[in-house]
Amino acid sequence: MFSSACSGTPISPEVVTAAGEAIIDDVAELGLAKWIDAVRTHHSQTYQHCLLVTGAAAGFGQHIGLSRADRKRLSLAGMLHDIGKARIPIAILEKPGPLTDDERTAMKAHPQLGADLLQANGSLAPEMLDMVLHHHELLDGSGYPHGLSGSEISDLVRIITISDIFGALMERRSYKPAMSGDAAYQIMLDMGVKLDRDLMRAFRPVALGVKQT
Ligand SMILES: [Fe+2]
Ligand SMILES: [Fe+2]
Repeated sequence: MFSSACSGTPISPEVVTAAGEAIIDDVAELGLAKWIDAVRTHHSQTYQHCLLVTGAAAGFGQHIGLSRADRKRLSLAGMLHDIGKARIPIAILEKPGPLTDDERTAMKAHPQLGADLLQANGSLAPEMLDMVLHHHELLDGSGYPHGLSGSEISDLVRIITISDIFGALMERRSYKPAMSGDAAYQIMLDMGVKLDRDLMRAFRPVALGVKQT
């Protein structure tokens, strides 16, 4: 709704109706107090990040000719990958300075928290849980939470990881200038063997298509 309002395109009545119905159901089921709690814990930076990652994953999947089913898997993973951050205190998520060791450990729990939360919900395919749980794993084994390396990391996870890093670099913050896709791609190239080389080569035109605005 906000993006439609920003770009001047009409706001879809179906979208508004669907959102309204979801709120009616939630308030009816859980009560207004729980709803207000949920809204208060809403972390808008994570929300923006997830939409950037979803877009990057969808664009990447399209560019390398993935099936629509795989692109759907990727965009769903983009939306859900950081859902575990809902369980991390906002004071840590929004801390302006560097994190302490304990805070960093708490933050690094988000993939596991997210996967646990989604698993408890049921109905999510194993490859989806894999993407949520392992989106911070790196090919050289230096990632978390399991320190997986090489062939232990699936192609879909590798794509989500690249999209995640790109999305994070694309975020606009008040304290830093917006980055071009080109500059973000250079930073990612400097990560060397941590990211899949062939996928990075394929990602180049996707990233470079994002001009500085
Ligand atoms: Fe994450
Ligand atoms: Fe992320």
